[in-house]
Amino acid sequence: DVIITIPADRTPVADVPPRMFGSFVEHLGRCVYGGIYEPGHPSADEDGFRTDVLDLVRELGVTCVRYPGGNFVSNYNWEDGTGPRDQRPVRRDLAWHCTETNEMGIDDFYRWSRKAGTEIMLAVNMGTRGLKAALDELEYVNGAAGTAWADQRIANGITEPMDIRMWCIGNEMDGPWQVGHMDPDEYASAVDKVAHAMKLAESGLELVACGSSSAHMPTFGTWERKVLTKAYDNLDFVSAHAYYYDHGHKTADRGELQDFLASAEDMAQFIATVAEQADAAKAAHHGDKDIAISFDEWGVWYSDAWNEQEAQWKAEATQGLHHEAWPKAPHLLEDIYSAADAVVEGSLMITLLKHCDRVRSASRAQLVNVIAPIMAEPNGPAWKQTTFYPFAEAAAKARGNVYAPTIDSPTIHTATYGDVAAIDAVVTWDAQTRTGLLLAVNRDLNNAHTVTLSLDGLESQAGEHNVTVTRAQLLHDDDPYRKNTADNPLAVTPTALDVTVDESHTVTFSLPAVSWTAIEFT
Ligand code: AHR
Repeated sequence: DVIITIPADRTPVADVPPRMFGSFVEHLGRCVYGGIYEPGHPSADEDGFRTDVLDLVRELGVTCVRYPGGNFVSNYNWEDGTGPRDQRPVRRDLAWHCTETNEMGIDDFYRWSRKAGTEIMLAVNMGTRGLKAALDELEYVNGAAGTAWADQRIANGITEPMDIRMWCIGNEMDGPWQVGHMDPDEYASAVDKVAHAMKLAESGLELVACGSSSAHMPTFGTWERKVLTKAYDNLDFVSAHAYYYDHGHKTADRGELQDFLASAEDMAQFIATVAEQADAAKAAHHGDKDIAISFDEWGVWYSDAWNEQEAQWKAEATQGLHHEAWPKAPHLLEDIYSAADAVVEGSLMITLLKHCDRVRSASRAQLVNVIAPIMAEPNGPAWKQTTFYPFAEAAAKARGNVYAPTIDSPTIHTATYGDVAAIDAVVTWDAQTRTGLLLAVNRDLNNAHTVTLSLDGLESQAGEHNVTVTRAQLLHDDDPYRKNTADNPLAVTPTALDVTVDESHTVTFSLPAVSWTAIEFT
């Protein structure tokens, strides 16, 4: 009942940007300490990095990692994490009410990223600091030998410049929760000055301004317009952040689950609005460059649990002053994901790819333990959440050009987004290797759908295209709430999907309710 086609005249959206498969490591809970770094762990290497986690990071296919925050960065001194470990200061982290030991910092993270094979996207503190600290950090990180900060890096054991190109100028500066949060005019002026000076130092940098923390912020839209208009000349990207969760998860409310399954509708609208504001800024400047979107926090986050915990701190704080030390690397935001969560993340990835003319970078938040696809048990094994699989498949196989196919699909009703297509999908085709990928989701909570896929339109790219399906996977569980856990980490994993290909090269398959699929073809 569903027909997916690529019409012959369909032009590609754009090429798949390598940074689409980015992730995020914040000093938060056990993402760094007990996640990527656990010196006492049986798998730890000479730098204290968990090699079991490194193996999974490589398998996940992450290309670029945003670091070190997040809310954390807005009260962070980057210098604290450099130099001999035993001399680094211990500080209070105001964002997450933790004690930060600074055992990991930029030098260590650079070493880790070399082992993981990932680029770094570095965020600077615009909360308690700003221009001077950003310039010092840039010199420390990227400078050639012979100036004070660069020589300090060399003395700390990193002899070569780190060559970090992509920098986030602050984090969620519109958020009232952010240390040093700003109004749109204040931030517009601050980011313009910092970006301008950073580009005087290195014109090849790619700089990201904070966009709105979510599409639901009161200043959403206005913020983007003011910031991008003021700083247009010095910026390359504006950030977008969006988290989703099933608001009915505590009561297994199926209406809420159906809405949650359609979350990508919100993401698509979000992208369209940010792009509109970026284009307005371009027009105001008679500019010739597009400001791209760095969707540098996205994913499923059951933030209701965190909000309850934060409310409890605030209630306790009214009782008096803090005389107890804040915890080091506590269990925070350790969401365990279901089959439905994985389908939603697969659907969000499809949406990002379909908008890759505008979204040229994206970071799934976060990487390990904290709202993460990889879990690392203290002194124990590392394992894959359900959400690992859709990301890993896209990162491994989505290459070449992206096509937004025509999808003729029945609709499902949602309270939040109205009637939306049950099936969503995207196709990538790599003309060089002559390999392609279909990613599709069935967001229908109640019905399976039979899908026919015609790839005739790829012929102009592919020549005579005799479709051969080389691999077809399905992620689905009859219980959409089923999760992988430390005790049963393989409860929900992809299985082989049955597909048929007829003599006219039409591919047919059935997608059960709440499912994600990846079909690789040549
Ligand atoms: O990823 C968790 C938090 O979500 C980040 O620190 C912050 O930027 C966002 O609000």
